[in-house]
Amino acid sequence: MTASPLLSIVLAAGKGTRMKSDMPKVLHKLAGRPMLGHVLALAQSAGSTRVAVVVGTDMDAVEVAAKSAVPNAQIFLQRAQLGTGHAVLAAREAIEAHDGDVLVLYADTPLIRPETIARLRARLDLGAAIAVLGFRARNPAGYGRLVTDGKDELIAIREDKDATPTERRIELCNSGVMAFRVPGLADLLARIGNSNAKSEYYLTDAVELGRTDGLCAAVVECDEDEVLGVNARDQLAEAEAIWQARRRRELMHEGVTMIAPQTVFLSFDTQIARDVILEPNVFFGPGVSVAEGAEIKANCHIEGASIGAGARIGPFARLRPGAKLAEDVHVGNFVEVKNVAMAAGAKANHLSYLGDGSVGAKANIGAGTIFCNYDGFNKARTEIADGAFIGSNSSLVAPVKIGAGAYIGSGSVITKDVTAGSLALERATQEERPGWAEKFRTMMARRKAKS
Ligand code: UD1
Ligand code: CA
Repeated sequence: MTASPLLSIVLAAGKGTRMKSDMPKVLHKLAGRPMLGHVLALAQSAGSTRVAVVVGTDMDAVEVAAKSAVPNAQIFLQRAQLGTGHAVLAAREAIEAHDGDVLVLYADTPLIRPETIARLRARLDLGAAIAVLGFRARNPAGYGRLVTDGKDELIAIREDKDATPTERRIELCNSGVMAFRVPGLADLLARIGNSNAKSEYYLTDAVELGRTDGLCAAVVECDEDEVLGVNARDQLAEAEAIWQARRRRELMHEGVTMIAPQTVFLSFDTQIARDVILEPNVFFGPGVSVAEGAEIKANCHIEGASIGAGARIGPFARLRPGAKLAEDVHVGNFVEVKNVAMAAGAKANHLSYLGDGSVGAKANIGAGTIFCNYDGFNKARTEIADGAFIGSNSSLVAPVKIGAGAYIGSGSVITKDVTAGSLALERATQEERPGWAEKFRTMMARRKAKS
């Protein structure tokens, strides 16, 4: 890895009209995180010492998102979108204050891996002043073409609309990602003009201008999938599919079993340890960790939750933010858990809602138990101590505490704290009328016959 300080400039000023959205394009999410967040994370893992984000007008939300991902990011406003060269120059102040490499990234190109940026910068170490990330396009139409010397030296980048028919036949295309090790880069960029088919200031013209100054430009190639740019929602879905496939493969290589990997959906931060088994149709929202040997059965939706070693979840379970399940916890079918810590070995196997509270070690929550946590105004907690047994179809009206080892009789509505070791029952006394059923049937049959 090169030691030169790195300024990353992330271009995010484009309107993104093809998304047909009220939200700026780069805030649309991929794997649970805005595209901008993916690119900022890339800038950071590439070792940026400074990060600049170029935004358009009315993009306060983009600025907020950028600052929350990288608190000391500098934000620059590009009032009118006059081209990529013009966009980079919006950050002129940052470029001039910086002594080192400059990397240009697009906020709508979220799949590039840090290793690829490392290869790009390594080309600077080998003597290039400008290194351009290129790829062989299945369909080059619309991309800038990379005109080379036949090896990896770059002579020019020709935009599709300005290219000659011969240049259009070139399959090697510009991803848009460029790295510069050029003293006085801002002055070079300021010389870029706009006499071209789109009357735009093309960043890509830096290559030819640099060469007239005697600078060497070079291409580093990567896979087309990595540099997919997102302009519309179908491309967002395509990027999502690529991201998911890549992350699933990584996790499987790290020791996670997936029976039907294509049906498992991960978030950018999902952590899954070795020997976890994932059955089909499991969705992970942000903020989930799963410890060793846990098993997640089919059809579960999990977000903001931690799952302990050896736990068994599902089928058909829903874990919401604040579900903290210790080792060997069982959460079964049609059970929803929100903001509840379940200690080791606790079980809630069927048809329950556990919201806001705690469940002690080895406590057993019977089928149909509900934590009544909300009165229409406030939320309250249900605290169940170790080893307690909650009979089926109980309603625990919070705030309420169930002592260690206590029993709750099935069907009870519990509104008062229960002391350790007691049985609490809340039920009308059962009545029995011997022989009643036979009499009833006879009477009903007679009536029906009459009418
Ligand atoms: C650009 C490249 C092209 C490359 C292609 C890859 C130039 C001149 N062309 O073309 O060689 O093959 O990307 O997708 O660089 N942006 C701004 N402000 C502007 C213009 C653009 O912030 O004034 C941002 C956009 O939001 C986007 C990125 O820069 O993230 C690229 O802009 P776009 O208009 O999509 O460039 P292309 O014409 O596709
Ligand atoms: Ca584009």
